[in-house]
Amino acid sequence: MNIPDSPQHPEINNTLSELTLLYQFSNTMLSTIRLNKLTHLILTAITAPSSNLFERAILFLRNEKTNVLQGMVAVNRQLSEVLQIVGGHDALGSRWDISDEIIAQQRSAEFCLQVRLTRIEIDSVCPLMHHIISERSLCHSDETLCQQCQTCHFVRPLCGGPFAAAPLVSRETTIGMIVVDNPDSGREITSDNLHFLQLFANQAGMAIENSMLYNRIEDANINLRDARERLLHGERLAAIGEMAANLAHELKNPLITIGGFAGRLLKSLPAETREHQYVDTIVSEVSRLEKMLAEILAFSRKPTICFNACDLEEIIHDCLASCATAFEEYSIKASFSTDIPPWTVSGDAHQLKQVFLNLILNACDAMQEGGQLTVALEKAPLGNKTVIVTVEDTGGGIPKEMLPQIFNPFFTTKHHGTGLGLAIANRIILNHFGSIEAHNTGHGAVFIIRLPLAENAD
Ligand SMILES: Nc1ncnc2c1ncn2[C@@H]1O[C@H](COP(=O)(O)OP(=O)(O)O)[C@@H](O)[C@H]1O
Ligand SMILES: [Mg+2]
Repeated sequence: MNIPDSPQHPEINNTLSELTLLYQFSNTMLSTIRLNKLTHLILTAITAPSSNLFERAILFLRNEKTNVLQGMVAVNRQLSEVLQIVGGHDALGSRWDISDEIIAQQRSAEFCLQVRLTRIEIDSVCPLMHHIISERSLCHSDETLCQQCQTCHFVRPLCGGPFAAAPLVSRETTIGMIVVDNPDSGREITSDNLHFLQLFANQAGMAIENSMLYNRIEDANINLRDARERLLHGERLAAIGEMAANLAHELKNPLITIGGFAGRLLKSLPAETREHQYVDTIVSEVSRLEKMLAEILAFSRKPTICFNACDLEEIIHDCLASCATAFEEYSIKASFSTDIPPWTVSGDAHQLKQVFLNLILNACDAMQEGGQLTVALEKAPLGNKTVIVTVEDTGGGIPKEMLPQIFNPFFTTKHHGTGLGLAIANRIILNHFGSIEAHNTGHGAVFIIRLPLAENAD
């Protein structure tokens, strides 16, 4: 439908053009979801020369939690000339559009920047605010409402002369306000203008609320998607763990048989022969696989702890003694220092030994070219209730980006690793009400374990 001009009846023309604007606004609302673009479109439309309504418009949105009106956007006529009318072959089917480039220009205009720094406290006794926000009615500053009001000082420097402000209402709540004025020409704001502003603001309120709801739904959707991903990842890990445990269980018995027979064969073969060498490789590889399976099974088993008083110093001495061959093989110097005993903790000695063995063997893996292993036992400074064990090496350390992952099950950088050693250690320490953390020292890595000392261990 094309609307014909009626030169004899200018008021009919005005009404028609206002109706057209409202139609175009409805169409624009239906096709604009992004809040940022919507607010720019709203202000550009009421300040555009084609609509001939106002020369400048400011939009405030209300923060319900803080009860503050926050300046969001301001547009003046110079920057609203670029409003495009697109879609539909007649006025009633068309809608407005502006490019992202124009939005950026409008945002960086000085007046807009000044508006965006403006915050108006709603709690004050300002009659203007009361009128707009609480009574949800339009306000024209020519009225004698706010001659001595403090709050209006926020609006007055922005507007200078007469202005009109309309509430943005949605579902019985005021979600913001639009302020308009004519600073260039000083043209009076007519009652027709005010009437139109009211109609327009009613629609704008709903459109803005819809857009904010849409944004919230979109955010919730993203959060939901993230949570689902994490859940799937967790489930996948659990499934992999279960599969690995089943597999380990199935492989264990035949492997023991192979190892047993290979051991017997090795004894019956003359040394220095090729066959002896082959069987020797079978024996050592089988024992490596057995260790790997033991780790997988230890990780998959539900941990049961047998709490007993155990001496940490003794446990660490045992661990160091079991690794003596590895120290020799890799030319590692090991040192162990302790404060004044006792070092009694309540726990499962077998499991605690597994923790320190895993840490020491990892340190050996990191120092295959030789190095220094330093293990120390000391009491935490506050209250002497906690023991701190540090296991430090000079093996080059752990790459920074890997640090957050090393305690994850199956995380390994080794060719023959299972990635379970630290996951098991972490679980055991947590079950003993302690903590374990890893850092880099510059020369290597240091693992710090904290465990509560047994009650009567002073
Ligand atoms: N002392 C250490 N120095 C350097 N890297 C280490 C050290 N301890 C652990 N890591 C890193 O953490 C990873 C995980 O260790 P772990 O859980 O014991 O599994 P695995 O030893 O089977 O690889 C190792 O592959 C290694 O990259
Ligand atoms: Mg390991």
